[in-house]
Amino acid sequence: MARSFAVVALFVSAVCFSSALARKSPEKFFVEGKIYCDPCQFAFESRLSFALSGVNVTLKCIKEENDIVSYQKNSTTDANGMYSIPVHGDHEEEICVVVADPPNEGQCKEAMPNKSDRIILTKNMGAASMTRYVNPLGFMTQTTDSQCFAVVQELGLDKLDD
Ligand SMILES: *[C@@H]1O[C@H](CO)[C@@H](O)[C@H](O)[C@H]1NC(C)=O
Ligand SMILES: *[C@@H]1O[C@H](CO)[C@@H](O)[C@H](O)[C@H]1NC(C)=O
Ligand SMILES: *[C@@H]1O[C@H](CO)[C@@H](O)[C@H](O)[C@H]1NC(C)=O
Repeated sequence: MARSFAVVALFVSAVCFSSALARKSPEKFFVEGKIYCDPCQFAFESRLSFALSGVNVTLKCIKEENDIVSYQKNSTTDANGMYSIPVHGDHEEEICVVVADPPNEGQCKEAMPNKSDRIILTKNMGAASMTRYVNPLGFMTQTTDSQCFAVVQELGLDKLDD
């Protein structure tokens, strides 16, 4: 009798322990992306584009029903223009995006849309990987590089106007 009671107690504490563990380790996602400079005023990435380091980016999640910012995390791009933001928890009910701050130094400060597409931060939508890749965001120079016309020709963009 005493023995079976001990077994039950052991079983119950094992169950409690494992559910406590589950509660203490919520999902962890990584939101990763790239910030680039477009030296051609194309407003898209071309072979002349280059990485922008030291750009501040913010992941922002907003509650769909009331527009309140529910989660926010900052990061900065590395030498390759890449960032990786660790995110805890499930954000299925929220609209999450990455916004890039315009650099305050250098030639590349002209804004194009600096907000990413919506990022899905939940496991309940099928994706097995915990890494979410964000569409690249960029800034433009005010002047255009002398090689930009060659790229225009390569892409056939010069023929679109006539
Ligand atoms: C993150 O950056 C935004 C604007 O860039 C700022 O308002 C906010 O205070 C920062 N938050 C943290 C936690 O550093
Ligand atoms: C880019 O992001 C900053 C906040 O980080 C915002 O103040 C600014 O208006 C944005 N610019 C554009 C063009 O969206
Ligand atoms: C990035 O954010 C940090 C801390 O908020 C701030 O000190 C720095 O000036 C920002 N850099 C740029 C390029 O905006």
